[in-house]
Amino acid sequence: MKALVLSGGAGTRLRPITHTSAKQLVPVANRAVLFYGLESLAAAGITDVGMIVGDTAAEIQEAVGDGSKFGLDITYIPQEQPLGLAHAVLIAQDYLGDDDFVMYLGDNFIVGGITDLVDEFRGNRPDAQILLTRVPDPRSFGVAELGPEGQVIGLEEKPERPRSDLALVGVYLFTPRIHEAVRSIEPSGRGELEITHALQHLIDSRADVRSTVIKGYWKDTGNVTDMLEVNRRVLETLDRRIDGETDERSETIGRVVLEEGARIVNSRVVGPVVIGAGTLVSDSYVGPFTSVAENCRITDSELEFSIVLRDSSIRGVGRIEASLIGRHVEVTPAPSVPRAHRLVLGDHSKVQIHS
Ligand code: DAU
Repeated sequence: MKALVLSGGAGTRLRPITHTSAKQLVPVANRAVLFYGLESLAAAGITDVGMIVGDTAAEIQEAVGDGSKFGLDITYIPQEQPLGLAHAVLIAQDYLGDDDFVMYLGDNFIVGGITDLVDEFRGNRPDAQILLTRVPDPRSFGVAELGPEGQVIGLEEKPERPRSDLALVGVYLFTPRIHEAVRSIEPSGRGELEITHALQHLIDSRADVRSTVIKGYWKDTGNVTDMLEVNRRVLETLDRRIDGETDERSETIGRVVLEEGARIVNSRVVGPVVIGAGTLVSDSYVGPFTSVAENCRITDSELEFSIVLRDSSIRGVGRIEASLIGRHVEVTPAPSVPRAHRLVLGDHSKVQIHS
């Protein structure tokens, strides 16, 4: 069995972290969301992975390499334009050959991995198997309609009026029967070859398309609360590891990961917390469920239940909670006169200020 991992798409402006880069590299507990997907494929016993890449190919290849650090053998498959999930299958056909495969969308995070699902598929071998999860507003997902016995009877991509609250999760299990289906469909209204249409084609041809409803699913939708929550869940699974330095005036309590080259000076760090390589925490408190990425400076401040991306500094600002701070950000105190806030905020920023 092989895997097809989709890490293409244009470098879009991503909310809530406004930058132009690969959305598959958004960090969860200081590691790219894509890495968790690759690890879960390796854990399910898959080694051969075709990786679809687009505009951000260089960034993805730099982060992932040949896959050996995940125990995978990765073949990059360039996609000239993001012409749809079924288009990705179409261009990967030579690579996939006659093998069954898992299609994994690189910006999706499945809590608990996919080993059981892959085993179930290997055991029953339906023509295709999809994963579903209940979401409060399914309009930005593919949506499935199930029959009385739980069989998939219809699929719609991002419907205005969803027929259920069952959203398609970005992991699909396919036999080679999908290849004929992706060749049979036409581009949708948004100009993409939709995998939902290919699946619908299979259903209409009386193929056996099964579904499994899962809990514990996340993808970046621009929602800070969700991002902090998935970060919290992953941090909770960490084991303590101190590879960096702490001085004798500092305390690190519980599950703290301090990467090599990180330094804690005259500070208190209460886990679960991860502090990236080259980051300095001085005269500060870092509390539970916080990720601070590489090369940051946290000075004379308090930080809890937050995510700070790389190369940012927070200095002398008291307490920060439930916050997401992007890359190369500076947070500093304002001068006492005039009593005014000075802000340089990127697109889609949200700030809460005590006045
Ligand atoms: O995340 C689950 C959802 O993913 C499903 O509920 C939808 O049915 C499915 O169509 C898809 O919707 P999105 O609009 O969220 O897909 P997006 O364009 O964000 O692409 C998902 C991943 O696949 C992302 O990592 C980029 C990559 N991709 C996407 C396209 C369209 C490619 O590599 N090539 C492509 O042509």
